[in-house]
Amino acid sequence: MRILLGITGGIAAYKAAGLLRAMSELGHEVTALPTQNALRFIGEATLEALSGKNIDSDLYGDVASVRHVQLGQEADLIVIAPATAAFLGRYAAGIADDLLLNALLASTAEVVVVPAMHTEMWQNQATMENVETLRSRGIRVMEPASGRLTGDDTGPGRLPEVEDIIEFLFASSPLTGKTVTVTAGGTRERIDDVRFIGNRSSGKTGIALALAARDLGAKVRLIACNLAQTPKGMDVTHVESVADLSAALQEPSDVLVMAAAVSDFQVTNPRKGKLSRSTVPELKLSSTPDLLAAYTKQFPESFAVGFALVDQEEDVINASRSKLETKGAKIVIGNSISSLEGSDTVVQYVEADTEAEISGTKDEVAREIMSRVAAQLS
Ligand SMILES: Cc1cc2nc3c(=O)[nH]c(=O)nc-3n(C[C@H](O)[C@H](O)[C@H](O)COP(=O)(O)O)c2cc1C
Repeated sequence: MRILLGITGGIAAYKAAGLLRAMSELGHEVTALPTQNALRFIGEATLEALSGKNIDSDLYGDVASVRHVQLGQEADLIVIAPATAAFLGRYAAGIADDLLLNALLASTAEVVVVPAMHTEMWQNQATMENVETLRSRGIRVMEPASGRLTGDDTGPGRLPEVEDIIEFLFASSPLTGKTVTVTAGGTRERIDDVRFIGNRSSGKTGIALALAARDLGAKVRLIACNLAQTPKGMDVTHVESVADLSAALQEPSDVLVMAAAVSDFQVTNPRKGKLSRSTVPELKLSSTPDLLAAYTKQFPESFAVGFALVDQEEDVINASRSKLETKGAKIVIGNSISSLEGSDTVVQYVEADTEAEISGTKDEVAREIMSRVAAQLS
């Protein structure tokens, strides 16, 4: 594999030498691309000797060969280790002001970012939001290790050990070889050609689950219900209504994660064109089919994960358990309507003989759910 190893200017940049060597020893062709600030922490000579290639991190170094495009397009995988807080901010904002960021923006390769910084910098809201933005775009961000930092203090922010980074990059993951279908977003039922009955689902949880499944090695199919933005690294099918979603669910998958908010009602008499203010329509509604129950009946071998969104007054666990028993799902994730928007959530994880509360950002909760699914499958 051709790997572009971006190295940014943090104290851990010297450890990139070990990573470069480990990747080369695995047979990968590695091109090291330090930022100008990284070269304050690690010598050009070290990287040249270990990669067997000249180091030139000047964007305008060899203009004739347009190196940023060449570097971006040649790479099968781009790894940034260590990634500084400054780099995360520039990358999340799309600021292409050096050779590395230009190469990244010119590339369609898979990108893995390995941040390393002081704990307070890592936990700073700006950094957290930048990481979340990158993850939502399909970039794999490895959690830093906890341990001794630059000074006497300790905490999360340390660059993980080289063997852990290698494992994160290449090891066969728990869902390798599995297909995971994730539905995300909210369906729309047409009233006329302009209006619809929809819901407030943002699709964040579904996307986070799809990314978590992808990061665990699964081949992911995302069925996106009315989502404008979808991540890289997975097959995406865009759908609008319950009927479209039902049609898209006619293929079996090892795992189905039914995170989309599916309308319980459909308009039986949708109008053509645009209704005018003077013709207030009398809408006839009928129930939509139960897609989760239909799927588990059609594909009983599939491991189905359902979601139960309940009213604040209702008991989430009871509602989830009754859904588990009636829909053929192996796991039901229950949550209350108060978690509909926003990036943090609290859910009740319910399976035949286990119940657990999982809370955190939607990304964290999604990773925990998918790890539990992977554990069940193994
Ligand atoms: C001694 C020293 C150590 C630093 N270590 C880190 C670090 O570990 N992580 C980080 O995010 N920034 C660190 N910085 C700050 C970065 O060097 C600074 O944000 C720089 O602009 C990063 O540039 P780059 O991302 O273009 O390579 C450090 C700065 C100094 C002076």
